[in-house]
Amino acid sequence: MAQSGDQQDDFGNTISVNELERIEQIAAEVVCPVPPTEARRAELKRRITALLQEQDAVLVAHYYVAEDLQSLALETGGHVADSLEMARFGHEHSASTLIVAGVRFMGETAKILNPEKRVLMVEDEATCSLDLSCPIDRFSHFCDAHPDRKVVVYANTSAEVKARSDWVVTSGIALDIVSYLTASGEKIIWAPDRHLGSYIREQTGADMLLWGGICVVHDEYRSRELQLMKQRYPDAKVLVHPESPRDVIKLADVVGSTTALVNAVRTLDARRFIVATDRGIFFKMQQAAGPGKELMEAPTKGVGATCTSCGHCPWMGMNDLEKLLNVLEKGGKDIEIAPEIRSRAAVPINRMMEFAKARGIGMASKGNA
Ligand code: 13P
Ligand code: SF4
Repeated sequence: MAQSGDQQDDFGNTISVNELERIEQIAAEVVCPVPPTEARRAELKRRITALLQEQDAVLVAHYYVAEDLQSLALETGGHVADSLEMARFGHEHSASTLIVAGVRFMGETAKILNPEKRVLMVEDEATCSLDLSCPIDRFSHFCDAHPDRKVVVYANTSAEVKARSDWVVTSGIALDIVSYLTASGEKIIWAPDRHLGSYIREQTGADMLLWGGICVVHDEYRSRELQLMKQRYPDAKVLVHPESPRDVIKLADVVGSTTALVNAVRTLDARRFIVATDRGIFFKMQQAAGPGKELMEAPTKGVGATCTSCGHCPWMGMNDLEKLLNVLEKGGKDIEIAPEIRSRAAVPINRMMEFAKARGIGMASKGNA
């Protein structure tokens, strides 16, 4: 159940406890596929590689999806990245078809930026608890009640919510954009992640009204148990994604986007790392760490934890090689977004992309390090 390290906020105005419980129940009911046998894996990879070429398609995967998909993306000239970098890569790549291994908002962002391309999801039903927590009608009402504020939304939202916003941000660029807006004297509405919102507010001193959504994966990390783990491994560095609760963030040596956390393992002079983000990231993190560095999962069990996810996003977990082959063989469904919504949502996303380009943010992982 959602715990709150943000006692100063009344999130009940934006989302109720019942609504959060309903979303956690949806997450708990997701069924993830079982991994293939060695022989089947080789067969799937061979057939998919040929079809990607035949169809002028490129695979763009998030760090949290199955290792099979991440390695295939790398082997076939695709990309593995955080959500900002996935958007940039898909936009700049010449392939006429983008295949997104991740969750729905990532595919929608790709389609909004590239309406002329075919954009397919490995799994159409893969959603995100943050997206679910922020329905457009209630969000729009909230924005209408505060017309003096800039609307800044996290990329983990629907196309409709993006279309209602002034700025879209990912965790890799949120601090920079909010600092910029604050320096320009703007007050902000932030949605949907309460923990990321309160972290940004603390870091920047911005005047922000927060939506009360949570990520069902990161909300489950527990500070008391993390403290005990730190006592057991006093030499370990703690890496935390900012969708985690405030008291967990407080224990971090590094707080950042998935790419920032992968880079931290590469650059920090430590032998052990406790990682508070989806364990799918361990594939690329272990590559970045090289031999001699040990990665450990941060604890998700403890007082008040529901452990619906236990360190792995159920919707990211829906993606697998069998589904990808099926999409390529049967011709998956191109993502559809109403033209009017698409053109309005493109404005704040392009604003973010241009801001990132001008400052060289999110370009560090360009070479798929
Ligand atoms: P990143 O942008 O850091 O990859 O985060 C996306 C996400 O959904 C994390 O839960
Ligand atoms: Fe959404 Fe959390 Fe899954 Fe990321 S890990 S896609 S924020 S539910």
